[in-house]
Amino acid sequence: MTDGSAPVGVFDSGVGGLSVLREIRKCLPNESLLYLADSAHVPYGEKSPEYIRERCRIIAAFLVEQGAKALVVACNTATAAGVAELRECYPLMPIVAMEPAVKPAAQATRSGVVGVLATTGTLKSARFAALLDRFAADVRVITQPCPGLVERIEAGDLDSPETRAMLIGWIEPLLAQGCDTLILGCTHYPFIRPLLTALLPADVHLIDTGAAVARRLSELLAERHLLAGGGATQRFYCSGDPQRMARVLPILWGENVEVEFFSG
Ligand code: SIN
Repeated sequence: MTDGSAPVGVFDSGVGGLSVLREIRKCLPNESLLYLADSAHVPYGEKSPEYIRERCRIIAAFLVEQGAKALVVACNTATAAGVAELRECYPLMPIVAMEPAVKPAAQATRSGVVGVLATTGTLKSARFAALLDRFAADVRVITQPCPGLVERIEAGDLDSPETRAMLIGWIEPLLAQGCDTLILGCTHYPFIRPLLTALLPADVHLIDTGAAVARRLSELLAERHLLAGGGATQRFYCSGDPQRMARVLPILWGENVEVEFFSG
């Protein structure tokens, strides 16, 4: 039987899920956390759903083997492709996943035009189409894939002239069409929120779901009497080069941490 002191397993294609992990750490300071970056396979955004589902299976099995009492799929693309299967494989485990914030954006927009920045995989998924059907009937939603942006954030490049130019190329057409609410539909993108804020007019509202995911995790753990009472630890794993990830962690996580190699 799982007890509250077991860790929560969190994973992403790379370091983007750290934007969710920091919300979890804020909301649940007592929880021990395992974070796995699948950096040998990043980005997921342009890969096939079958490929991503296999990565999700392998990673979830590892995190469960490490004793995880709950899983957080801190990646929109992995959620779109793989969370349904994970829930079938682990029916008793609390599993929290990402979802582009279409509902809050549809409620927040004043112009009636919402932009979504996300990966091709997320935007093409049936889950995203279902979200639009459900919550965006009365607004216009303009989607914008952002190929290449995840790779820049993985490298810790949050504000170079190249990153700026990429973003300007994507957001200008959205603004020209009246977008006043912009969804960050990939967990990497909150790391460029400061740059986006500098590039966007002050009245454009940016929305991401990291804090909501942390709250949902907290609710699920409480419902199942799985909240930890203290003694929080954290461990980081990476399927790519641990040294490379360790170099960007001070920028994205705010401290130096040891990263262990995951060979799966
Ligand atoms: C990616 O790996 O391409 C992005 C991950 C995400 O959608 O959050």
